Amino acid sequence: MNMQGKRVVITGGSSGIGHELARQLALKGARLVLTGRRAEALAAAVTALRETTGAEVYGVPGDIADGAVRETLLGQAMALLGGIDVLVNNAGGVRAGRLEDTTEAELRAMIEVDLIAPILLTRAVLPVLRDSGAGLVVNIASGIAQMGVPFYAGYAAAKAGLARFGEALRRELKGEGVHVITVYPGATETRMMTTSRADASMGFALQKVEDVVGSIVAGMEADAFEVVRGGEVRQAMLAQNRDDPAAVDARFLALKPQLEAAVRDHNAL
Ligand SMILES: NC(=O)c1ccc[n+]([C@@H]2O[C@H](COP(=O)([O-])OP(=O)(O)OC[C@H]3O[C@@H](n4cnc5c(N)ncnc54)[C@H](OP(=O)(O)O)[C@@H]3O)[C@@H](O)[C@H]2O)c1
Repeated sequence: MNMQGKRVVITGGSSGIGHELARQLALKGARLVLTGRRAEALAAAVTALRETTGAEVYGVPGDIADGAVRETLLGQAMALLGGIDVLVNNAGGVRAGRLEDTTEAELRAMIEVDLIAPILLTRAVLPVLRDSGAGLVVNIASGIAQMGVPFYAGYAAAKAGLARFGEALRRELKGEGVHVITVYPGATETRMMTTSRADASMGFALQKVEDVVGSIVAGMEADAFEVVRGGEVRQAMLAQNRDDPAAVDARFLALKPQLEAAVRDHNAL
């Protein structure tokens, strides 16, 4: 897809991956509507994007898990952009820790924001994407959706659900003018990771957000099915998880004490 002139909605565009994606797409000529719960942070992000890219960028604040907010977002985006060509389901939250130590409210919040909100927003936007003639849905999942990591069971459930949702929908819409891409970022240097102390020795080497987003944009331009970060090392790990999952279990068993301590406070809900 050529991004010039495309009308793009990005959930969670006030920081991190969503903000950088807005910047890179704006530089390619896209027109954008962004969301985020913190109205001030969103307004500041929109102003900065307008100033640095000269592009048409708008903000619609609110919690994407709220149905009324999703309805407002769709109405505002239609009014501001005159249609939608691309929906990026990027807003997400995480709460790490042992399953027994994770509250029901935290688990439900992750599933609402990371899985149910993207499904319902996609359903609502789909007729408009069909009208576009060349519609695109980009779902930002996580590497944890491809391979379960201890102390992220709830997050893995939500993100793996989002990934399979996208794959099923891509096949459902094949030949109907709407494509779906699933993105599997590894640990990325954003606000979301500031409460995690997991490091490269535990498999959480932080990648630069510009590089991660560069891959996402390349995937969008190439009509890719998925964007997987981490190169050959990551591919080898995924192959091992498929062919010899006990070896991956053994690796995590050795890591468990350090990893549990490092992610105990990882909270970005
Ligand atoms: N960073 C990583 O290591 C990593 C790895 C794999 C996948 N991901 C995924 O990448 C996506 C973006 O995360 P990020 O790392 O860029 O985090 P981030 O810097 O914290 O950005 C998250 C963005 O989403 C917004 N947001 C969060 N919950 C929202 C809600 N309920 N309604 C509306 N907006 C909401 C945030 O603004 P407000 O807080 O103001 O709402 C912010 O704009 C997430 O889906 C995350 O799961 C991240």
